[in-house]
Amino acid sequence: MNVIYLSPGFPAEMPLFVRGLAQIGAKVYGVGDQPKEALPEDARDGLSDYLQVRSFDDEAAVVSQIRRWMHGKSIDRVECMWERLMYLAATLRETFSVPGMNKAQTVIVRDKELMKQAVESAGLRVPRHGRARSVAEAWAVVERVGYPAILKPIDGAGSVDTFRCNDREEFEAALNRTRHVTELSVEEFIEGEELTYDTVCADGNILFENVAWYRPKPMILAQNPWISMQNIVLRDINDEFPRPGVELGHGVLKALGFESGFTHMEWFRTASGEAVFGEIGARPPGARLVHAMNYSADIDLFSGWAEATCFGRLSQNTEKKYNAAMIFKRAEGDGLVREHRGLRGLMRRYGDCVASLDLTPIGEPRRDWRKIVVGDGWIVVRHPELSQCLDVSERFVNDLTVIAE
Ligand SMILES: Nc1ncnc2c1ncn2[C@@H]1O[C@H](COP(=O)(O)OP(=O)(O)O)[C@@H](O)[C@H]1O
Ligand SMILES: [Mg+2]
Repeated sequence: MNVIYLSPGFPAEMPLFVRGLAQIGAKVYGVGDQPKEALPEDARDGLSDYLQVRSFDDEAAVVSQIRRWMHGKSIDRVECMWERLMYLAATLRETFSVPGMNKAQTVIVRDKELMKQAVESAGLRVPRHGRARSVAEAWAVVERVGYPAILKPIDGAGSVDTFRCNDREEFEAALNRTRHVTELSVEEFIEGEELTYDTVCADGNILFENVAWYRPKPMILAQNPWISMQNIVLRDINDEFPRPGVELGHGVLKALGFESGFTHMEWFRTASGEAVFGEIGARPPGARLVHAMNYSADIDLFSGWAEATCFGRLSQNTEKKYNAAMIFKRAEGDGLVREHRGLRGLMRRYGDCVASLDLTPIGEPRRDWRKIVVGDGWIVVRHPELSQCLDVSERFVNDLTVIAE
């Protein structure tokens, strides 16, 4: 099984998927724009060969370089977990007749308007929505959608350039702040909790599914530097809290005709218990959520995904044992980290629940959470009971402070 893997060294979790592929016996051919020596160790160890391209932007050049490089070898899969290169992956699949998502399927999971149209036409609930290529179009859409509204890039990521607008003035201000964005999505603002529905699929079958609960919502997090994010992987996805999203997720995957690989959907749960579609990507969730899923069931989805993608099965026992809460800390103050205030007491009381703890070490500079998603550290706590997991998680949010000065 020969797998071409795009960008094996970046973003952060890619080397782990490379390692997963190697573990299940695939030969991994990495294509990246970094020099080989710059690749993280997991990536280098997992690769059978590596091709450095000058730039991913010149698609035709990359295709012909790969053609020469792979001459005489079969190409069985082309894998890519990075949104930026998904079209290139689709082009490669089409060029070399490899199974997996083609360009037409890829655009649906990249363009927030097309994806909502596809989901909506299957009779599923999406926010009222519209595409805007100009200021005039944006005003026309918001007239129809009403306030509060959301204004965001049509193919955005990480809540960048995303604004909630409660009235005309706020909408106008948001339009001014997004002048550099060529295409916008305007949506009805959905009030409610925000959760994920994630899967690993093969041949159209769901082999693993997951719901995680964002606290607070990513948009709030992006706008408030002091907040520690919690992301809670739920043990029982049949409980009445996550269930509507699981059902919505099943419908969405069917509507998109999704076949193989990771999916990451976001959805809103309104106070009345209705699930409203947010967005979906044909990739794993970022921000270490795969790690949190692993901790919830003591599994390794990096190799689990690889097995599903290459051989259509997931042979690990993926039954969840825990609710697993992941917390990202952001340091207080500037400069070097001086203290992990509160840590000792927390470990004494809740150490049994801590599955992983990784804070910026004392003496190192504090990090920029806008660039490094884990900020000044991440902690995973877990417990079979949700209420206990939430309590312990709250303690780490409130009683642990990374102090920098
Ligand atoms: N229609 C909506 N209603 C409420 N909140 C929204 C809506 N659309 C986006 N948001 C908020 O903005 C965040 C970013 O939007 P999203 O569509 O997920 O884009 P991306 O994650 O690609 O930046 C969401 O996680 C959510 O918190
Ligand atoms: Mg999102």
